[in-house]
Amino acid sequence: MKQFSRYKFKSGAKVVAGNKPVFFKLLIKNIKKDFVVLDLGCGSGELTIQVSRYCKKIIGVDCFVDYIKTANKDKKNQNIENVLFKIQDGRKLSFKDETFDVVYSSRGPVSANSFFFKEALRVLKKNGLLIEETIGETDKIELKKIFNRGQNFPYFIKKRESVQKLFDKFKLQKVLLEDFVYYQRFSSTNAVIRTLERTPIIADFDKKQDAQYLRKIELMHQKRGIILRTHRLWWIAKK
Ligand SMILES: C[S@@+](CC[C@H](N)C(=O)[O-])C[C@H]1O[C@@H](n2cnc3c(N)ncnc32)[C@H](O)[C@@H]1O
Repeated sequence: MKQFSRYKFKSGAKVVAGNKPVFFKLLIKNIKKDFVVLDLGCGSGELTIQVSRYCKKIIGVDCFVDYIKTANKDKKNQNIENVLFKIQDGRKLSFKDETFDVVYSSRGPVSANSFFFKEALRVLKKNGLLIEETIGETDKIELKKIFNRGQNFPYFIKKRESVQKLFDKFKLQKVLLEDFVYYQRFSSTNAVIRTLERTPIIADFDKKQDAQYLRKIELMHQKRGIILRTHRLWWIAKK
């Protein structure tokens, strides 16, 4: 996957069925003005900066140096004081135990495995909330079937089941566990290519080497464009 200095990008895809959930709204419902918050896998920090207006202090961490550089530039330009961005690996954070009132991740690595999950819990205060928007197993399933590879493909367990297993393993109280499915229309094969180049949906995507699959995507192109499924999962657990 190619890396860019900014994670956020415009795919140009339009929602044509279902509703796109807005994770920011879920976050600010669960964050109070005096909270200290951690954004795990913050990318280039756009959401971190948005959330900073609703809490006392927020730290955004990401393992990718260029994202943190961009996030720091934005922070400086917008003159925001209660945000700190740090280059860190989510598996080994530098913070003391029980530092944060809320630890959240927007499609970051928290529920990827027990190592990330345990470390996120370590830095969360007792009674604190761990919140994540993650990617469901049927996300862009149409493309994964064409490429015969991709993130969580083929899947053997539903993402919500693997998250529930983590709740059980770490004896956490489930506050929320909800799937969302909606469909987006990409106007052209090039719009799909731009998305594949900037995301891990199809591992090692290469426009030239994968040309045979791109031709199949072209065949999906109808008057209405290329319609692809998006699958997200929101969950909240209390420590
Ligand atoms: C899908 S992006 C989401 C970025 C941002 N949270 C957003 O919603 O725009 C996932 C992010 O997780 C970060 N990430 C992946 N593995 C990580 C790790 N081991 N430690 C810290 N960050 C990680 C990636 O660098 C990337 O910025």
